[in-house]
Amino acid sequence: MLGSINMDLVTSVARRPAPGETVLGTAFATVPGGKGANQAIAARRAGARVEFLGAVGDDVFAEQLRSTLVASGVGVDRLRTIPGPSGIAAITVDDGGENSIIVVGGANARLTELDRRDLEVIAAADILLCQLEIPIATVAAAARHARDNATVVVLNPSPVAELPARLWADVEVAVVNSGEAEQLGAVVDSVPHVVTTRGGAGATYRGPDGRHCSYPSPRVRVVDTTGAGDSFTGALVAAWGRGPETALPYACAAGASATTVLGASASIPTAAAIEELLRTPPPKTSRNH
Ligand code: RIB
Repeated sequence: MLGSINMDLVTSVARRPAPGETVLGTAFATVPGGKGANQAIAARRAGARVEFLGAVGDDVFAEQLRSTLVASGVGVDRLRTIPGPSGIAAITVDDGGENSIIVVGGANARLTELDRRDLEVIAAADILLCQLEIPIATVAAAARHARDNATVVVLNPSPVAELPARLWADVEVAVVNSGEAEQLGAVVDSVPHVVTTRGGAGATYRGPDGRHCSYPSPRVRVVDTTGAGDSFTGALVAAWGRGPETALPYACAAGASATTVLGASASIPTAAAIEELLRTPPPKTSRNH
């Protein structure tokens, strides 16, 4: 896993303010997050062995960010400290469980070099999973090295950005949400496997032979959708070796489970919780996430 790690500053509010408006919030919490860290923990909890390649700053958040990965069983040998602030995300969650997020990259944005030991970890891995909360040049260099060493590159291109064609050529699996799919358009057509998440409607898969399949999401009571996509992606990668027919339903259950708890990393389900949700009949009064 190569990606970001942030401290999420989460404000709960009945409804999100309009531009120029002040509203009273109902709660505040700091929760370790970041798409990279969330997906690393999700893959680990779903049963994969995970090494995290990333960076924290030397500020008050750094130690808690590092220890959250350690407590989850994610390897941190390649987590470096880069002087300056850690990454943060200012998150507002409304009563409907919907969120808005502003990410300030901090140390993630200063992760511009991969050293020999990073490259060895990438070459030895089965899968390299990346997102776009660190510099694109770093992602591209890692993907190139992965491809050269037969490591499968999975890219969650979030937040969406324009990427070099060379990077897309190294991607074997793209995981996007429906908004990202629309923004990216035809550039993902060349990627052999494309997984598109559709919130409460589940996910779709398009394979290298052009085959399309849809997978529903279990119905749950939604509290907070933050990090649901990260739980989906981590679980998908953990189960990818079992084939898309198994990995997608598993990932849909992980994503749904993550919406039932407030906070990104706090809500990431274990393999046991995912499997239990897959076996559980839907509740009587519920709405999809
Ligand atoms: O995907 C959710 C994550 O996005 C949050 O944890 C936040 O840190 C941002 O990176």
